[in-house]
Amino acid sequence: MYHNFNFRDVLSSSYRAAWQIEDVLPDGASLDFGRRFLPENLARVDGIAFLSGREKKVLNQIRGHEYLSIFGLVEEFILPFVLDHARPQLDGDDHRVRALLNFAAEEAKHIHLFKEFHRRFSAGFGTPCAVIGPPQAVAAEVLRHDPLAVAITILHIEWMTQSHYLDSVRDDGELDPLFVSLLKHHWMEEAQHAKLDTLMVEALADGRDEAGIASAIDEYLEIGMFLDDGLKAQAGLNLDAFEAATGRRLTAEERAELEPRQHQALRWTYLGSGMAHPKFTATLAAISPAARDRIAAVAPAFC
Ligand SMILES: [Fe+2]
Ligand SMILES: [Fe+2]
Repeated sequence: MYHNFNFRDVLSSSYRAAWQIEDVLPDGASLDFGRRFLPENLARVDGIAFLSGREKKVLNQIRGHEYLSIFGLVEEFILPFVLDHARPQLDGDDHRVRALLNFAAEEAKHIHLFKEFHRRFSAGFGTPCAVIGPPQAVAAEVLRHDPLAVAITILHIEWMTQSHYLDSVRDDGELDPLFVSLLKHHWMEEAQHAKLDTLMVEALADGRDEAGIASAIDEYLEIGMFLDDGLKAQAGLNLDAFEAATGRRLTAEERAELEPRQHQALRWTYLGSGMAHPKFTATLAAISPAARDRIAAVAPAFC
C-alpha cells in the first residue's frame, strides 16, 4: 500500500486542525495593498520587462483576487460531489460518514471565507475585477462527468493546494500576512481532504477494468480542457482589470506578449501543479500505471 489513509485518522486530524473564519479573518482586519498577495512562483509577473514595479504589484494582487475567486468556484462543485458520495452509505461505517460530512462542511466554510476575503479585497482595491463563471454553471458542467473523473479532478485540486502553500507561500516573507494566513489555514484543512479524495478515487476505481479507468481519464482531461478554456478567459479579464486599475493601456504587442504568458501562469497554478504533484501521480499509478503515464505525458504543457 502506498499510503496509510483511513477515515478514522483523517477525522481526528480534521478536528485537531479545524479553525473558525474569525481566526483567519478577524473583524476589522484588512489586506495590505502595499504588498504582493501571491508568490512569484504562481503569479509569474516579475519577468515582464515592460511593467514597472508598481504595475507588477497590481497585477500580482489581481492574481490574488483571481486565486480566491477560482477556489470559490471549484469548491462549489467539490461540496455537492462529496455529499453525493457520502449519501448512499449513510448507514455504513460511522467514521466514513462523519469524515465525509465534515469534509463537506469545511468546504462550505472555505466558500464562505473566500467570499469574505473577496469583499475585503474589493473594498480595498477599489477597481472591480471580473471573474469567469457563474460558479453554478461551472459546477453543472464538471458534475455531468463520470464520478471517477470528477473525483480525480478533486484529488488533483486538493494536492495542488498543498504544494502552493508548502513550496512557495510558507517561506515568502514579503507577502501580505492576511493572505498568507488564509492560504495557511486552507492548506491545514485541505491536507485532510486530499486523503479523503484518495479514498474516494480508490472506491470509485474499485472493480473497474483498464478500459473503465481509461475512459475516466479521458473525462478528467475533458474537464481539464474545459477549465483551461476558463483560465484563458480569466487571463484576459485579469489584464482588463489591470488596465482599469493602473490607467495604463497595453499596446497590442504588449498584450500579445503578456496574455499567453499569464494564461500559462494560470495553467501552472491550477492545472500543472496538480497534475505533477507526486501524491496525485502515486494514486493514478495505483489505479493504473497507464493512466499515470498518460497524465505525465500531457502535464508539461500546463507547467
Ligand atoms: Fe477548500
Ligand atoms: Fe478541500
